[in-house]
This record gives sequence, C-alpha cells and structure tokens, in this order.
Amino acid sequence: MRYALIGCGRISPNHIVAAKNNGLDIVAICDINLLSMEDKILKFKLDKNTKHYTDYKEMIEIEKPELVSICTESGKHAEIALFCIEHKCNCIIEKPIALSISDADDIISASIKHHVKVCACHQNRFNKSVQIIREAIDMNRFGRLFYGTAHIRWCRDHEYFDRASWRGTWAQDGGALMNQCIHNIDLLRWMMGSEIDEVVGMTDRLNHSYIEAEDMGIALIKFKNGSYGIIEGTTDIYPKNLEETLYIFGEKGTVKAGGQSVNVIEEWRFSDMLDDPDTVKERFHENPPNVYGYGHTPLYADVINAIQQDRQPYVTAMDGKKALELVLAIYKSAAEGCSVKLPLKECATMDFEGRFQ
Ligand SMILES: NC(=O)c1ccc[n+]([C@@H]2O[C@H](COP(=O)([O-])OP(=O)(O)OC[C@H]3O[C@@H](n4cnc5c(N)ncnc54)[C@H](O)[C@@H]3O)[C@@H](O)[C@H]2O)c1
Repeated sequence: MRYALIGCGRISPNHIVAAKNNGLDIVAICDINLLSMEDKILKFKLDKNTKHYTDYKEMIEIEKPELVSICTESGKHAEIALFCIEHKCNCIIEKPIALSISDADDIISASIKHHVKVCACHQNRFNKSVQIIREAIDMNRFGRLFYGTAHIRWCRDHEYFDRASWRGTWAQDGGALMNQCIHNIDLLRWMMGSEIDEVVGMTDRLNHSYIEAEDMGIALIKFKNGSYGIIEGTTDIYPKNLEETLYIFGEKGTVKAGGQSVNVIEEWRFSDMLDDPDTVKERFHENPPNVYGYGHTPLYADVINAIQQDRQPYVTAMDGKKALELVLAIYKSAAEGCSVKLPLKECATMDFEGRFQ
C-alpha cells in the first residue's frame, strides 16, 4: 500500500516505524523544514525509494498515496486532512484531530462524502493494559460503572516548548489538556461507555508563563448513564514525568492502569474471579522507551485492515472529535465559570485566546 508522511518532527519516528513494521511502501515524506526531513531520511534510510517534498499538495497530487499520516502542528491538521480526503487519500491524523468542532465535523463529513477512512491517532487504545480493561468492560465484568479517573502528571520544560514555537499556542495547539493529556481523556470517555451530560472544569497556567494556554486542568464529568469522571492533568510536575494513570471503579470491579502512559496494570480486582490478578499484572505490562508507547504499529495494522475490508477503523474520526469536544468543554467551563452541557455547538481553542494574559 502506497503511504506518505506529512510532518517529520518529534512524533514522526513512531509513524515511520509503524509504516515499516506493517510493510507499507513509504513512497514519499514531506516537511517544510528540510533539516527535520533530512534527519529522518538519514535515520530511517529513506533515501532510495522514498521521494522528498516540501509541499504536501504537490506530494499528494503526484504520488497519489492510499494512506497518509498527518503529523504537523495540530492547528494545521484539518486543512491538510481535508485536502488529502478530497484527493481520496485515507488518513491517520495525529491527535488532536483538529482544534475546533467545525473542523472536526468537516473532516468527518468529507470522509463520508469521499468514502475514505480517517483514524484519529489515539494509539494508547492499543496498549495491552488498555485492551484488557476494555475487554472487561465489554464483558460487563464491572457491573454498574460508578466512576473513572484520569491523572496525567507529566513534566514539560522550557526546552520542550523552545523546540517548537507552536506548542502551547491557542492557534496551533492548546495547553496540557489538549496536547499531553488528550490520550487519557479519550480513554476515560471511551471506557465509561456513554455520552456526556455535563462538564465542570478549571484550568490555569501555573508554571509556564511563556506559553499561551493552560499547564494544569481539572474537571468533573457527568455521563448520561449516571456514572462520573474526574480528570486531572498537568505538565507542571517537578522534576520529571510521574505517571499517566486511569482508574475504573464499578459495582463488581476495580482497576488501575498506570506507569508512564497507562501501560501497566497495577490493580485488578473483580468479584467474578475469572482470572488471577497477579498473572494479569504480569502479562499486561509494557515498558516502552518513551510515553508514546508501542501503539502506533497496531493502530496502523488496524487502519490498513480497515481500508482493505472497507470498514471503520478501531479509532474513528468521530472518536477524535469526542476527545476534542471534551477538552473544549473543559476550556469553556473554566473560562465561563459554569458547567457546560454536551454536545458542544461550535467551539475552538481560539475562543480562549488571551485567557491567561
Ligand atoms: N500520538 C502521540 O502520542 C503524539 C506525541 C507527540 C505529538 N503528537 C502530535 O503530533 C503532531 C506533531 O507534533 P510534534 O511534536 O511531532 O511536532 P514537531 O513540531 O516536532 O513536528 C511537526 C513537523 O511538521 C512540519 N510541518 C509544519 N507544517 C507543515 C506542512 N505544511 N507540510 C509539511 N510539514 C509541515 C514542521 O516543520 C515540523 O517538522 C501534533 O499534532 C501533536 O499533538 C502526538
């Protein structure tokens, strides 16, 4: 399958490795920054059969890839995705899928109109630990779900933001919740298995005066099925990443998945005693080299299969929109000082420009 990559920055190695692991034909890569592109060409030996472009439109028109991954700054995802979709190209869009509800909606309707598959890159859904929790939910092992909590206690320093000026801006990124925490926010929403009724949030910029958006957010969620969610996420933790942890509490089950990025089952308690907790903790434990984990390769495998079988990917564009919507609802609640009902009508990160000035 002909594959192309747009954006050769920090997350791109995970995409190149996933493409190679899945036997994709990497026909082209593209970046407006030649240094970033050359670095990946050298590192992954992409100099022979892979063409190099600085203009993604030219690349799509000439190379006609079947699948493209969009790994540019978040504020550019929608514009690039729409161009690719209109050119009948299936897309893996890095998270967040877009920065406004209307852009996410446009991506979804374009994908239907042009009959292409779009996957939002929430690769942590493929963590072994996350998959076994989801299986327990699908088997109704928790009984009634009471509540779930998502904690993201990470550290991002000045140097991280200095490396890319778009990070932490309202126009291109958003803050800790939209960028670093959105994976676990997606997992919480997905696990609780229900639409959201309302959200109450608070956000602040406590320790990064040089970015525009928040570096800490807390939120309470009421789901329509009567369960609740708690989110607490930050990039302020001293002096390094502490944890990304998901708890699910139900009538007949308690689960905790932690580690650096929800990749270790730390508690596994079910009244049905279907499995041995110590064996589960041992088997569903991954120790990846960084917080991005091992999820890109299975996510790519799923998207390739979805294209071949003409089915929806495991993580859809709608899933990407739902994660975006929840973060925007927290931003809105925090800015307006009141609870926010979902679904959200139009809302965008740019609505909060100047919030911490
Ligand atoms: N899934 C994950 O775990 C994960 C992790 C990190 C980042 N991300 C997401 O991936 C995206 C990129 O993040 P990053 O940290 O790699 O950013 P980065 O700044 O390191 O890389 C982005 C690259 O895109 C290039 N680019 C910008 N506009 C372009 C255009 N029009 N055509 C081609 N290339 C263009 C830039 O020059 C840069 O090299 C963001 O949306 C981010 O939220 C996801």
